[in-house]
Amino acid sequence: MTDTPNPAPTPRKLIIAIDGPAGAGKSTIASRLARKLGYVNLESGAMYRALALKAIEKDASFDDEAALVKLAEESRIRLEPTRDGNRTLLNGHDVSARIRERDVTEAASRVSVHPRVREWMVEHQRAMGTGGGVVMEGRDIGTKVFPDADLKIFLDADPVVREQRRMEQQKIKGEVAANVAADLRERDRRDRTRAASPLMAAEDAVVIDSTKLSEAEVLAKVEELAAERLLRQ
Ligand code: DC
Repeated sequence: MTDTPNPAPTPRKLIIAIDGPAGAGKSTIASRLARKLGYVNLESGAMYRALALKAIEKDASFDDEAALVKLAEESRIRLEPTRDGNRTLLNGHDVSARIRERDVTEAASRVSVHPRVREWMVEHQRAMGTGGGVVMEGRDIGTKVFPDADLKIFLDADPVVREQRRMEQQKIKGEVAANVAADLRERDRRDRTRAASPLMAAEDAVVIDSTKLSEAEVLAKVEELAAERLLRQ
């Protein structure tokens, strides 16, 4: 009888949560890390943005929790990872660019305060990530969506630096820049102080302050942590 060699174990695919405030660099780091690992990058904020867009289109009040949940249930919100980044589909339409506009950004922050809206989102986000092989970014991924994630990163930065990064990203100056900075501060305040799943680092998250770090330095740290977790299994 011949011994059949044991096949090499297939590495388990991790669930990686990246949370933090706007402008801390989550999206860039999450998408680059996902590409490096061959994982899917899911931006949970895009789902809140898609619902906010639906509410704008239907003229629904951002304060009407029941109406917003009904809209969510009636909508098909899909995140479609592509080689060039994530596409967001709302009822089959590509709304990826539209949901980044100022009115939707403001509305997303407002619709996301409602506990029942969050429950709906969390359920769908869990369904997308349970198989692993996913880098999901947002505000409550490590605390609520995947409390057992293999790796939790909380990416933060000084508010002034975050504002500057946003301006550079959007190539804006002057009065518009002042508005963007004020919007960002207000969204931050709302995200951190809402009663349902406020933005905070999970107890077991690795907190990275990117204020004085380059993108490459943050990425190197995060890759090192992911490699460590992969070895642990
Ligand atoms: O990450 P973002 O800027 O695209 O998120 C848009 C809004 O959605 C943000 O103001 C807070 C909310 N959000 C949330 O409450 N929970 C998440 N997991 C992701 C986003």
